[in-house]
Amino acid sequence: MVRGSFGLCAVMILAVGMSAQEPRVVNPDWFPKKDMMTIGVYYYPEAWPESQWARDMANIRKLNMEFVHMGEFAWSFMEPEEGRYDFAWLDRAVDLAAKNGLKVVLCTPSATPPIWLSRNHPETLTVDSAGRRIDHGSREHADWSSPVYREYVRKIDAELAKRYGNDKRVWGWQIDNELSHYGKRFSYSEASTQKFRDWLKEKYGTVSRLNADWGAAFWSQRYQSFDQITIPNADVLVADPSPHAVLDFRRWFAHEAANYLADQAAVLRRYSKDQWITTNFMAMHEDVDPSLSRNSLDVFSWTHYPVHGNANEGPLGFRLGSAATMSFMHDLMRSFNGISGPMELQPGQVNWGEVNPWPLPGAIHMWLLRAFGAGARFVCTYRYRQPLFGSELYHKGLAETDGVTPSPGGREYAQAMAEIAELRKSYDPNAKAPAEYEGRRTAFLIDYSNRWDISNHKQTKRWDTEEHWMKYYRGLKSMVAPVDVLTSDRDFSKYPFVVAPAYQLVDSELVKRWTTYAENGGHLILTCRTGQKDRRGQLWEGLWAQPILSLIGARIPIYDDLPEGVYGQVSAGGKNYSWGSWADILEPKEGTQTLAKYTDQFYAGKAAAVTRKVGRGTVTYVGVDTLTGDLEAQILRGVYERAGAKPAALPPNLLLDWRDGGFWVATNFTSVNQSLTTGAGTQFLVGQRELAPGGAAVWKQQ
Ligand code: GAL
Repeated sequence: MVRGSFGLCAVMILAVGMSAQEPRVVNPDWFPKKDMMTIGVYYYPEAWPESQWARDMANIRKLNMEFVHMGEFAWSFMEPEEGRYDFAWLDRAVDLAAKNGLKVVLCTPSATPPIWLSRNHPETLTVDSAGRRIDHGSREHADWSSPVYREYVRKIDAELAKRYGNDKRVWGWQIDNELSHYGKRFSYSEASTQKFRDWLKEKYGTVSRLNADWGAAFWSQRYQSFDQITIPNADVLVADPSPHAVLDFRRWFAHEAANYLADQAAVLRRYSKDQWITTNFMAMHEDVDPSLSRNSLDVFSWTHYPVHGNANEGPLGFRLGSAATMSFMHDLMRSFNGISGPMELQPGQVNWGEVNPWPLPGAIHMWLLRAFGAGARFVCTYRYRQPLFGSELYHKGLAETDGVTPSPGGREYAQAMAEIAELRKSYDPNAKAPAEYEGRRTAFLIDYSNRWDISNHKQTKRWDTEEHWMKYYRGLKSMVAPVDVLTSDRDFSKYPFVVAPAYQLVDSELVKRWTTYAENGGHLILTCRTGQKDRRGQLWEGLWAQPILSLIGARIPIYDDLPEGVYGQVSAGGKNYSWGSWADILEPKEGTQTLAKYTDQFYAGKAAAVTRKVGRGTVTYVGVDTLTGDLEAQILRGVYERAGAKPAALPPNLLLDWRDGGFWVATNFTSVNQSLTTGAGTQFLVGQRELAPGGAAVWKQQ
């Protein structure tokens, strides 16, 4: 039997997590479908002599850019002294942009409070885990839980919105910039602590319920009142904090960030009439959850720097970036309401990696076409001019240090935008995605709580949640499956396939939805670590992963993980694969088919992956996390083939997608030349059949 609170907990989470998360209705004129995608660039008028602005705006337009993005760090120029606002300079910059045919995205400057604010109100600065007050002199150092800071932000936002909210030249708004405290992560201030307590009070009502859910009987951690609770902070504790307290803290932090975004959005909307609102989340960032902003943002955007010294796949991966993470971010951000795009996409070499190599010539152009293929409605790049001062002076822009010569990246941006302008002429509003392609459409289920809970208690340092996701994601893209990354409050019932990787925290409601999904003909793929705990992060008083056992048709009597340098073996379909991070050892019930077996360790011969029919559909459980993900890709392929979905077979990292308007788009993130196989009647509109590494092609198929 599972613990009685299984059902109760589910009801609570639904009440807290599912209410009011409806997407906003977006004005279709903001991003006309027929324009498909537009490209723009960041510009900092406040940092350049005004005598150069007109020249710069004209040159931005000459690079084919269609919009400029301004103001996210300009608070000390907008409000040089408390209550004295100066927008005259911004008026002139907006005017010049418009005169050059550029739409304007304006930003709230809350990422960089002015010095007078930090000095007059030190309580608005964050406090780090060692209890130190963070100083002025960088960015994202303000504590958005501080009521005083919130008030100042509301005031400047209101002034901005009053001035530009009705200005047709201003297309939309970005709130803040990469909402986070970067390496400092959280603020441990009094204000944050108080708001965390308030949130807990609201969630639990009584401290005894909190004690129960936090398992506070362990180590006598019991609290007598909410006021005694502090933010769990490993730096001031002798041993590990309560994992349940940490999980709640991370939930609170994400909610607080979403609440801050909603707060700013509400101020902008009070005065803004017909302009969209976004914020630029960070790619793959785990602390701030964009799904919590579904009902406050109109547009979902993020920042992405694919090349900053990371190896990625293949010998040229360090110059090409990761195909999987780039594509995954599009599939996540597009899924909220269909209006999405990267707000910062790398323009060339950056300055902040441990090493900062050049992207491969052509790669930047390929990323732009990848955005196009993924259905992005816009891309913006950071930044137009390479700075001559400040901590990012080694960061490339679209223009070189002379301020006028287009950089190599600048030329690739200009090329991509010229191509998109051409492609618009072939836009077919009635084009339908090919049925075979749609037949492979996959919902990829994630939940930020799973990430938080796993990183809180990984059990093995070899485990990497995001890399685990990517193993499945790469497998899906190599079959040319269109993917939508969904949080589990979303409806996945219509998708022919659902993949829920390492879905650690479940409740009865979700397991029921999964079961009904399969019974109705869906194909569900679950992977190791799924269903281990309830939503509080507590284990079941039942067998391991009890709630999913009847669904997967197997027991999981043990799991294993191996020390660094030790590899276990697993075999499937006559091939062998190595693993090191996680292995659920499965005992299938009658009627459940084994897909992969361990071939060594003391459990040699036991099942590593199983599948079974459930109603009109199937449920597959992959218990092992292999080194390369090749086994996972093979198992996925088997599921899609048996379901009659005719998976394609592309080399991993050669991506192919269909986009509205009737276009196929291929991008070659592999380190070798690829030759595209397309049917008769192929009309190449960009590129050609042969793709070098970093190459991209767009075509129509008759
Ligand atoms: C982003 C940030 C920008 C700029 C850029 C440099 O993460 O949002 O403001 O710092 O990095 O690559």
